[in-house]
Amino acid sequence: MSITPPLSPKRAQDIARTLDLRALPRDFLDNPYPVYAALRETEPFKRMPDGSYFLTRHADLVAVYRDAKVFSSDKQVEFGPKYNHAPFNQPPYTAAGGVAPLFEHHTHSLVFNDPPLHTRVRRLIMGALTRRAIEAMEPGLISLVDSLLDKIEAQGGGDLIEDFASAIPVEIIGNLLDVPHADREPLRAWSLAILGALEPSLTPEQEALGNRSVNEFLAYLRELVAQRRQHPGDPEHDVLTRLIQGEDNGDALSEVELLQNCVFLLNAGHETTTNLIGNALISLQEWPEQRMRLLSDLQQAPDEEAEEQILGLAVDEFLRFESSNQLGNRRALQATQVNGVDLPAGALVTLCIGAANRDPAVYENPEQLDLRRTGNKHLAFGFGVHQCAGLSLARLEGRIAIGRFLRRFPEYRLTREPERGGRARFRGFLSAPFSTR
Ligand code: HEM
Repeated sequence: MSITPPLSPKRAQDIARTLDLRALPRDFLDNPYPVYAALRETEPFKRMPDGSYFLTRHADLVAVYRDAKVFSSDKQVEFGPKYNHAPFNQPPYTAAGGVAPLFEHHTHSLVFNDPPLHTRVRRLIMGALTRRAIEAMEPGLISLVDSLLDKIEAQGGGDLIEDFASAIPVEIIGNLLDVPHADREPLRAWSLAILGALEPSLTPEQEALGNRSVNEFLAYLRELVAQRRQHPGDPEHDVLTRLIQGEDNGDALSEVELLQNCVFLLNAGHETTTNLIGNALISLQEWPEQRMRLLSDLQQAPDEEAEEQILGLAVDEFLRFESSNQLGNRRALQATQVNGVDLPAGALVTLCIGAANRDPAVYENPEQLDLRRTGNKHLAFGFGVHQCAGLSLARLEGRIAIGRFLRRFPEYRLTREPERGGRARFRGFLSAPFSTR
């Protein structure tokens, strides 16, 4: 079974030479790593046909992430033309005369903003994602994972993505905003459509689906917010109540900021975490020695703390090796230099997390999955002021899901070649049928 098909050095160099994110070949999407390696070695600041830069070295990504004053996350400029509606610095109108929902959503979410909106929203969210609040989620997470494993055991197998990996984040993020269980069904499809619209190239159908999904999501949230205003939850745990109360405390999130950041939050922890769990369990199939070693390390762990440590290292290595979020973006507000390389004002920069995480300047044997790797300074959660606000929660989900799955089904095996998502930005699988033995 070929999960990550090889790519010849010659083919990798050819793709690297003509790299264009708007037209990526299928063999790159299946296995981009040889192309990343070629770029790191020969053109670490690759100029693409649209004039933007594609960065692949770890040190260069860190330098850009660090300099948030020069490298802006604000996407007003890029997303106007991306969503196909207006030239720069004019409001983007759809053909029908309204603001494009995808534009409105993405340009209001904290991840695509600079201070002051970014600071205000991030402070409110971080206040509810404290260590204590995350620890309090652990028992619920364990019982959710165990109930999924029970169902899988009764069937003798299932689909790693549908029946397991994707079923976890939707519940956890749903709990974080206290979305009623009965309402959670459409969340994943909305999230896939809205984040999918961030891919470097979009078909009109994908764009239409993304716009429709934003509208449906907002309509749902408007009602939820109205109910929560009437019946507030515990602001220590309920992010939605916290964001609403922030409004009243003079922290002033407008209605549109509030709703759009709830949509973002519900999306942010979704596909990324699904892909962490899915990529990990599928990688173990490709790396049988690592799997045997992890299982034996877990069996020999003297206590829960040791087990947590083993799984913690493994989760970070899975994140490094198959980063669920492969690409980030920034725009230079002024002419600048990155480690001695000149970039002009306005330069659009794609930060290739997947390439930086396999940079031989930072990692020994970077193309090797090594679940005992220590000192793993991967960039899977980004770095700097926008570093993932949910990273502790994502790591907890990863440890519990992967650890409990392995303990229950140490002999699991894929029964068919898994189906890849086929995306450049979000790396993961759509489906992976497996049997428990
Ligand atoms: C494996 C799972 C995850 C991965 C790989 C991941 C990755 C990332 C990355 C790379 C960024 C930085 C984007 C940038 O700098 O442009 C980010 C930001 C963010 N993530 Fe995650 N994420 C994960 C899970 C989560 C979860 C579970 C949550 C919610 C609880 C979450 C909430 C956020 C938020 C709110 C931001 C924006 C932070 C800011 O702009 O200040 N993420 N994530």
